[in-house]
Amino acid sequence: MAIQTIDGKVFGLHTKNTTYILSINEEGLVENLYWGKKITSIEDFAGVLGHNPTINVQGGQLYREECSSFGGMRFKETSLKVTFADGVRDFRYVVEKTDISGEHLEIVLTDIYYPFAIHLHYEVYEEEDIIRKWRVAENRGKEPILLERIYSAEYGLPGDGWKTVNYKGRWGAEFCAHSDTVQAGKQVYESLYGLTAHTVNPVFLIHKDASETRGDVYFGALEYSGNFKTVVEPVNTGYLNILMGISDTDFAWTLKGGESFETPAVCAGYSAEGFQTMTHILHSFCTRHIMPEELAGKPLPMLYNSWYSTTFDVRCEEQVELAKRAAKMGVELFVVDDGWFEGRVDDTAALGDWYVDKEKFPNGLQELIREVNNLGMKFGLWIEPEMTNKKSKLFMEHPDWIYQYDTREVLMGRNQYELDMSNPEVVDYLIEIFDNLLKENNIEYIKWDMNRYAAEMGSRNRNQSQWKELWYRNTQGVYRLIRELRARHPHVEFEACASGGGRVDYGAMRYFDEYWPSDNTDALDRLYMQQWYSYFYPIKYMRAWLTDDFGMDQRKIPLQFSMYCAMCGSLGIGTDLNKTSDEKLDELAGYIALYKEIREVIQLGKLYRLNSFTDGDIHAVQYVKDKKSVVFAFLDHERYGDSYFHIYLRGLKPDKKYRVKLKEQEEEKSGAFLMNMGIPVILKGDYDSVLIQLEED
Ligand code: DGJ
Repeated sequence: MAIQTIDGKVFGLHTKNTTYILSINEEGLVENLYWGKKITSIEDFAGVLGHNPTINVQGGQLYREECSSFGGMRFKETSLKVTFADGVRDFRYVVEKTDISGEHLEIVLTDIYYPFAIHLHYEVYEEEDIIRKWRVAENRGKEPILLERIYSAEYGLPGDGWKTVNYKGRWGAEFCAHSDTVQAGKQVYESLYGLTAHTVNPVFLIHKDASETRGDVYFGALEYSGNFKTVVEPVNTGYLNILMGISDTDFAWTLKGGESFETPAVCAGYSAEGFQTMTHILHSFCTRHIMPEELAGKPLPMLYNSWYSTTFDVRCEEQVELAKRAAKMGVELFVVDDGWFEGRVDDTAALGDWYVDKEKFPNGLQELIREVNNLGMKFGLWIEPEMTNKKSKLFMEHPDWIYQYDTREVLMGRNQYELDMSNPEVVDYLIEIFDNLLKENNIEYIKWDMNRYAAEMGSRNRNQSQWKELWYRNTQGVYRLIRELRARHPHVEFEACASGGGRVDYGAMRYFDEYWPSDNTDALDRLYMQQWYSYFYPIKYMRAWLTDDFGMDQRKIPLQFSMYCAMCGSLGIGTDLNKTSDEKLDELAGYIALYKEIREVIQLGKLYRLNSFTDGDIHAVQYVKDKKSVVFAFLDHERYGDSYFHIYLRGLKPDKKYRVKLKEQEEEKSGAFLMNMGIPVILKGDYDSVLIQLEED
């Protein structure tokens, strides 16, 4: 049974391998008593003291609370801050009711004086070892209530010595991991960019000296693509508090009488076996329960994107030539990036004018699409719906449709303004524009870009008293647009890009089929990024392209290394094919054919991070699906003449025999041998790489 209770006072939430225990304690507060390896005898928790008795205070500060609220004797960061109409800022509750229905638990907390309730929701995914938590605030009275903070979830872990890992990124350097030891004060991971952004990510990872395959790891991911905040705080009463949700910075939500506010959910879990198990849990949960269903179980098509070859100078004839060469190589989806619409000669103009440029495409997009389809490929197109330029018809006609303060100049990000997506009129307009584009053209893939961070969050269309709601409303507007377009065009594949990996999160994952993790395609940088990206996000949905050198790092990397690196995800090609020799085209075609043979294993298999440049000389990843396995290993630079490495495989069946193919060599070995003795490989010089394929007999 996923949820057990003793008299509605102690609750055990059980997944296949974990248990989460909640109790309503003597002070009437809902607290977390335990989170970790499975314990089914929940009666053992009756009477367990949840607090450190040496600290002389009363109330919430003592407990690992499930819903701490500003006020009372709490000095820690709390997950809720409410101001009632009379100025009281203190939510004191009683548990009104608890309700278990299948895998779902709801606990309703009501204020002892004011007509206000918080509903705590728990959803148990037994098979996947995940518990989803979220909250709903409800104003049951007539007077407005101000929500100044309403995080989604709160977690407490006993003791100290915890480490936290998050990303530390920027454009071109997304998904670089960063680790901190939690000692004192608060660690805050927050986005104020108006979207997920390239810096930290709405996930948490807390561990005690865990490694890939060992140690306790607690983790969670927020289903939200707007401003978020994660606070990790060692509370002085003996525990670590972790809070996560919509950022409270410049947030205030007026809950009118009778209204409710629902937070996004946090999907969280525990692994007793290090980061690898965490990744397996998250990848499987995400694939089964978060990602859109349309492409479930199928590998993504192999794509070509012309951005790095033509940038804004997109012309029909040239694109047709590119398409012919792409088709020859085995590409399945041909994508035209930025530059196809009226007036878009560079990044200073035309965003918002989503009409095909008649100079570049005299016969409309159909001519190119027909060619592409006749060549046996699908056609895809780039858009950036949430933006406009000063130099655009859209902005001239609707200067009120952007975020702005009337007394301030609106600052530019990549020469563009952000449309007020909190305004339903704007979203309705965009729905119609893109619906028509998709109806009139056989477009089967959309790259949805977003290249500006939010600022000046004021709107001429909304009363000032609601301006602090705009961040949240904006995100909801974006979700409505993508939801509606998906509903009207279910066969279209949507890729999320925000100047690279600025919108990768569990909220976006409900709507987008795949992600562009970074504009940085340097293979060495990418190996690091891909490693950390894969901690939380599945490989299938991670686009990885081969491009020409584009000058981010002044490095020359051999084709095989770059190709193998891109083949570690969902392969794409972005090189200028019109400048590619026929020999190189054939070479690329060879890699693409090979990728198609192994992509099901890579995209749909289980990932094992075997070795990493972060703590060793080589980088190696393995994928296992049914009877097949694929391993890529990379050496960046030979050091001290060392070129002999052992790769210890994982996830195989010890008693089974596997046919092992390494370059021209083929041998048969047992799973036990491959996992314990390992495979010796020779990697030499600069940027060497090897592919190993295995198949169970
Ligand atoms: C930023 C994206 O990250 C790039 O891949 C490309 O689509 C450009 N925008 C186009 O303007």
